Amino acid sequence: MQSERVYNFSAGPSVLPLDVLETAAREMTNYGGTGMSVMEMSHRSKAYLEIFNETKQRLRDVMNVPETHEILFMQGGATFQFAAVPLNLMGENGSADYALTGNFATVSSKEAKKYGTVNIAATSADRSHTYIPAQSEISASADASYFYYCSNNTIYGTEWQYVPSAPSPLVCDMSSNILSRPVDVSKYGLIFAGVQKNMAPAGMAVVFIDKSLAGHELPYTPKIMSYKTTIDKDSMDNTPPCYTIYMLGLVLKWVEAQGGVAEMERRKIQRAKLLYDYLDESKLFHGVAQPDSRSEMNVTYRTGDADLDTAFVKAAAAAGFVNLAGHRDVGGIRASIYNAMPIEGVAKLVEFMKAFETTNS
Ligand SMILES: Cc1ncc(COP(=O)(O)O)c(C=O)c1O
Repeated sequence: MQSERVYNFSAGPSVLPLDVLETAAREMTNYGGTGMSVMEMSHRSKAYLEIFNETKQRLRDVMNVPETHEILFMQGGATFQFAAVPLNLMGENGSADYALTGNFATVSSKEAKKYGTVNIAATSADRSHTYIPAQSEISASADASYFYYCSNNTIYGTEWQYVPSAPSPLVCDMSSNILSRPVDVSKYGLIFAGVQKNMAPAGMAVVFIDKSLAGHELPYTPKIMSYKTTIDKDSMDNTPPCYTIYMLGLVLKWVEAQGGVAEMERRKIQRAKLLYDYLDESKLFHGVAQPDSRSEMNVTYRTGDADLDTAFVKAAAAAGFVNLAGHRDVGGIRASIYNAMPIEGVAKLVEFMKAFETTNS
């Protein structure tokens, strides 16, 4: 068994802060003197409702979510939202704009097509999703029910460096960069994020929804997917993922203690710069994304030789840098450097890459 923790570059589920894991371990069998684990509690109990309400409030504070927006905890991960968004927001015979900058936005648009008309407002498919289209390249419709985009493309390693403007309410999948920077939530009709990267263990999505958008769902929307029901029942129409919400609470406390999302942003810029600066000078490794569209969460790169990429990933794993293989759809190498990745992890990875380059050139 590994005696020390590795540097885990997994794209999700991903590394969590060690402090959080240690607190969870300490509280595992007896939470706050209740004599039981959070996993064993009724979701209606006083002890659990305190965890739930505190977590929700902390999320509001950390992300500065305005009172116009409700915070929801929904099961089914981000993919559940691919259907929930059109079912709730498309409207009768409606249409929506989608910006296709990667796999997840594309999958989401296919789901939306089941419930209405999808306008492709922008796409980066012409250059294998290596860039984010400029605002001038977006053709948003005047009468769409919403404009959908994914702010960070986990697989391709690109990230929107601006908030697009569109006539209809913005809907954003922030699964892989939520909590990594301040966000003006008031600009969005709806934000959702699968929690398994920067927030918590898998099994849930958080949703911030402008309350005025809820209550207009298509008549056949399953009750479990209705934002209106979820708002009315405070995310407890059925048993919520209690332990995941508890873990989210611990992660949010950690984010707060570090200095909030502003500090998360400072650290992510520092981590990403270390890696991209080296990629820009390396003769062996090359960044995949166009420089002005680079993700500061998922750094994709290659040597240009698929066998050498595989050899690198294997050698890195043996040295304690794990989960560096690119997504199976695109290959290459990907270092996911989320909030909980310490700067030393990236610094040591760069040292390892330099040594690998020396040996292989
Ligand atoms: C940006 C983005 N959206 C959606 C998903 C799908 O998330 P889930 O597996 O929680 O459904 C992922 C998964 O990695 C993702 O990175």
